[in-house]
Amino acid sequence: MDKNLEDIRIKIQKMAELAEDNGEPLGWFEELYETANRDSQDVPWARMEPHPQMVEWIANRPEINGKALVVGCGLGDDSEWLEDIGFDVTAFDISKSSIDWCRERFPDSTVDYCVADLLSPPEDWKNKFDLIVEIHILQVIPENIRDLAAKNLSLFLNNNGHVLCIGRLYEPNVVEQPSPPWPLGQFWLESKFEDLHLVNFTRFISENNSTGDFPSLPRFIASWQKIGP
Ligand SMILES: C[S@@+](CC[C@H](N)C(=O)[O-])C[C@H]1O[C@@H](n2cnc3c(N)ncnc32)[C@H](O)[C@@H]1O
Repeated sequence: MDKNLEDIRIKIQKMAELAEDNGEPLGWFEELYETANRDSQDVPWARMEPHPQMVEWIANRPEINGKALVVGCGLGDDSEWLEDIGFDVTAFDISKSSIDWCRERFPDSTVDYCVADLLSPPEDWKNKFDLIVEIHILQVIPENIRDLAAKNLSLFLNNNGHVLCIGRLYEPNVVEQPSPPWPLGQFWLESKFEDLHLVNFTRFISENNSTGDFPSLPRFIASWQKIGP
């Protein structure tokens, strides 16, 4: 990221505050993607490559395959990688401009890209997917609507399906950064998926963070599996 990251963060905070005041707390994502005019340097989370921890996690679990749902797919790098290694991928984002951008970047893609809102998802996604990927989504959804977003994630899982979450981890001793994003507590996360079986919860520090997004802050990669009927 060459553009001044601090300027982009200030812009995002202002847009997020305004959106909240206007009663559309997630409306700023469309504004950000639209005004970026296809310049990925204006999208602070754009890695332009699949998330390395997701890649490692999947590579170690060859038994997971089938239908994958990528939530808040951004510019599409995670969904394209999953499709390339054999998943049948549906990827969605609340922002139409982000989905248009994905289609332009990957014109020959077989990923099913669509505009949808995690807070009111299509009915026919229920019990349909073997893998749900949520990278940096719950942490950008304000607290008062985050519970519903987390609850909806597990509805998409079929029996034995996995949900994979990656994000900032809340730790009381870490100096708070301007929000969004809001770091997520381990207790909160585990309570949201208590009907599922916890597979792993791992804290990590992303030293080689290509987006320059606060590399020293604690993060988590966690997954749960739906077991039984
Ligand atoms: C921080 S970005 C992360 C994007 C991508 N997952 C990544 O790791 O690069 C959050 C993404 O979630 C999308 N998003 C936010 N709220 C959403 C919702 N309720 N439903 C679907 N997508 C949402 C935003 O438009 C944005 O693309």
